[in-house]
Amino acid sequence: MKVLLGTTNPGKLQEILALLGDVPGLEWVNPKELGLPEVRETGATLEENARLKAQTLAQWSGLAALAEDSGLEVEALDGAPGVHTATFAGTRDPQANIARLLRLLEGAPNRRARFRAVACLALPEGSLWTSEGLVEGHIAEAPRGSGGFGYDPVFIPEGETRTLAEMTLEEKNRVSHRGKAVMGLRLILAELGQRGESPKGYNSRPKGLW
Ligand code: IMP
Repeated sequence: MKVLLGTTNPGKLQEILALLGDVPGLEWVNPKELGLPEVRETGATLEENARLKAQTLAQWSGLAALAEDSGLEVEALDGAPGVHTATFAGTRDPQANIARLLRLLEGAPNRRARFRAVACLALPEGSLWTSEGLVEGHIAEAPRGSGGFGYDPVFIPEGETRTLAEMTLEEKNRVSHRGKAVMGLRLILAELGQRGESPKGYNSRPKGLW
């Protein structure tokens, strides 16, 4: 059975496929392969965005669709950047985002932060499963490591001395917000793969979108 994986971020893709790519009976496809555009993230929360992406992609494609939204919440910044994590410095450049974060935290006694991820699996007939994952930790004084993506070089998970960018993909997936959120959907995906039937119904592309 085909499952549409609604993320274009190469770092996220690699992590999700490392966790779910071996589920028997599933064939993963991406929106580009089907000529689908990106779903605009207009929700006010991570959950709204993940749900919006999964449900929209499931309706457009007639396939099961998995989508994820994630963000960083910093205690000293009252939970910012949260839903705006990807464009915190006004661009999507991770180095600019990290630089802004470190500048705002200069001299801050409290560097506690958490990553949160919400993953949603939607079927075209309307079923929806949601799973959330958290990793607590703190923001390092300076970037370290070359693995991962985004804010990984400055995020140190609780109980660790290394940043996420100093871990292997497998190590990161074991502790990360995304690892936990995505693994929460593995059982239902395994069941869909075993059933082996594609969800019924194909909704044609809505007019005026592209
Ligand atoms: P979105 O989910 O595409 O809206 O983007 C979330 C943003 O949060 C990403 O662009 C990254 O900057 C950041 N982010 C999410 N998960 C991670 C992670 O595992 N490591 C580092 N940064 C992350």
